[in-house]
Amino acid sequence: MHIVFAASECVPYVKTGGLADVVGAVPREIARLGHQATVYLPYYRQVRERAPAKKPVIRSLTIPFAYYNRFATILDGGKHAGVQFYFVDCPELFDRESLYATPTGDYLDNWERFALFCRATLEATKQLGVPDIFHVHDWQASMLSVYLRTVYYFDPVLRNAGTVLTIHNAGYQGWFPPQTTERLLLPWDVFTMDKVEHYDSFNYLKGGIVYSDAITTVSKKYAEEIKTPAYGNGMESVLTKRAADLHGILNGVDYEEWDPATDHNIAAHYTPENLAGKAECRKDLLYAFGASHISPETPVLGIVSRFASQKGFDLIAQIANRLLNEDVYLVALGTGEPYYEGLFRSLNDQFAGKISVRIAYDDALAHKVEAGSDIFLMPSRYEPCGLNQIYSLKYGTVPVVHATGGLDDTVQEWNPETKEGTGFKFPNYDAEQFYSAIHRAIALFRTDKAAWTALMRNGMKQNYSWAGPAKEYAALYEEVARRRS
Ligand code: ADP
Ligand code: GLC
Repeated sequence: MHIVFAASECVPYVKTGGLADVVGAVPREIARLGHQATVYLPYYRQVRERAPAKKPVIRSLTIPFAYYNRFATILDGGKHAGVQFYFVDCPELFDRESLYATPTGDYLDNWERFALFCRATLEATKQLGVPDIFHVHDWQASMLSVYLRTVYYFDPVLRNAGTVLTIHNAGYQGWFPPQTTERLLLPWDVFTMDKVEHYDSFNYLKGGIVYSDAITTVSKKYAEEIKTPAYGNGMESVLTKRAADLHGILNGVDYEEWDPATDHNIAAHYTPENLAGKAECRKDLLYAFGASHISPETPVLGIVSRFASQKGFDLIAQIANRLLNEDVYLVALGTGEPYYEGLFRSLNDQFAGKISVRIAYDDALAHKVEAGSDIFLMPSRYEPCGLNQIYSLKYGTVPVVHATGGLDDTVQEWNPETKEGTGFKFPNYDAEQFYSAIHRAIALFRTDKAAWTALMRNGMKQNYSWAGPAKEYAALYEEVARRRS
């Protein structure tokens, strides 16, 4: 089979979160299984900086909008690890300071940027190879499914292709005014409640959900949660309608990048059998954060995250006073919404000597935090999958997580009787419960080194490689292709 992946982020070219990791990994794994895999990405300034002067394979694709046409060029990004990359170049739309927004808000033409990306991808495949399946990701690529089943409905080349939409985060949907319908030259009959209309807006994600053949999310638990009002962000009823075609496929992680036995970003290597290197990594981390004075008996709590309301840092704010007056040290690395950056900055000032915050996006430092911390905090309000808790498991850094989405699916509560389990969870999004879960972790760390080591080893032995999930995706592609033929 031939699968075309359309997404707004992909490592190593451009990344703001886990979406990029997943889009970097799945095509490679699908190619490993013997399928043909092609990735289409917008040629943002950030991609151009990493991959300059690419050869055009299609010049001047015409993408019509109401009253004007735009022109896109398709650049050949080459073949890497068995995956062919193409970039959709349209400098007026993609050659910008950032991907989605300025500090004051989203780019006002995001409706056009990502519709162009989708339509140019469809058009390009007519010349470069129409796949059996288009695998589209999040709202930014959702319009591909909408175009395919509306304006391309009778297209003899494209019409047999199947579509799979993966929802990485139902909290981001792409809401635009109703007039988007005619701006995109779509018939007004798509603008109804059972199609793309949502509270009188044109909702790209909803369009993807309605028009794709199958829908996946990135954990089994989140696939259940998004069918409820508490997690669906308004998509619950349309997702419930599509329940038979909605699947949870848990993300894997790339152990070539994230394995303390081989990681080139950390001070020393270690394995479940020989943990000695972890103490070196802890020293190195504390040195990097200016906290070399911290005693080995003090638990180091780590955070690496986008700073966004999804990630649950309001709970940190609520317990900070108590927690940071105890014998703990908190290391936090993140960037994002000004409110949460401000929150961490003020904690940093208020609790000097107990916390060190780095407002930055720094991949190497993220590896150091994973390796050097004793406990990893992820109190996310909701978490479709989450990758950092899975990295933490591998690095023997015990996760404390809210039992939601992928956090619930990947972390098992420690059982002191049986010595089974990999971390600590709290059931409700609640500061007291979070505090008590951190305290279960700290108590074990302080009082029972043998049990703590067993807990670390349990986590390190978990296997969340991509091999399993890739087979689940391949089986789904086969099923969708069968349905289409
Ligand atoms: P999300 O996609 O919601 O942000 P995930 O846990 O799925 O959450 O993925 C986050 C990814 O981004 C991980 O690979 C993580 O290491 C990385 N990351 C997030 N913030 C930072 C940061 N400040 N510096 C380096 N890496 C980061
Ligand atoms: C989203 C989610 C995160 C998930 C990632 C990759 O950004 O917030 O939970 O791991 O996508 O699927």
